[in-house]
Amino acid sequence: MDESYLMHEIKIHDKVFIPYITFEEIDYAIKRMANTIYEEHKNDVPVFVGVLNGVVMFMSDFLKRYPGECEISFLKLKSYEGTESTGKVEIVMDIPMDLTGRHVIIMEDIIDTGNTLQELYRILDTKNTKSIKIATLLYKPEAYKKNLNIDLIALTIPDKFVVGYGLDYDGLGRNLPDIYQIKTEE
Ligand code: XMP
Ligand code: MG
Repeated sequence: MDESYLMHEIKIHDKVFIPYITFEEIDYAIKRMANTIYEEHKNDVPVFVGVLNGVVMFMSDFLKRYPGECEISFLKLKSYEGTESTGKVEIVMDIPMDLTGRHVIIMEDIIDTGNTLQELYRILDTKNTKSIKIATLLYKPEAYKKNLNIDLIALTIPDKFVVGYGLDYDGLGRNLPDIYQIKTEE
């Protein structure tokens, strides 16, 4: 990865990525999402449950934009190897918080096939919450294979691999402030 803070083509491991969504566009979409959630949760204290590691940038920027009271918690799942979903979701770290009677909002960096989301929903569904909503920064409708309704989507993207703003390609690229899309031969 070289000169990663400039908006031009970059190489990560063996693949080339092109600038795709700027931080300004991301920030605008996040602000809109924060206000929408606040309108629905003005009168309660929701718990935002982030899925590590990919959600770190989105979660911290989202929280700065959320104008009401809230709590946060995290869990860690693993489903990807390289640029392909393995279809197998592994819990690496469970949520260390009692969610009984709470309004929970799942915060995802990206919903691709929906495998991770379905597993996450199954875990949270056993925790006697008052409600569960799903919020995601990025959503790939062409790749999504599940029936769960996604309540809040910041940005909808085509079925192409992306990195940056928390998202990685085999560990690298998470610290890029903007989102980059894989460059494929036409
Ligand atoms: P699924 O297929 O389970 O995928 O919905 C969800 C998880 O896989 C990762 N993922 C990606 N990571 N660029 C990435 O850097 C992508 O385009 C991408 N698509 C899926 C991500 O961790 C997500 O939570
Ligand atoms: Mg993730």
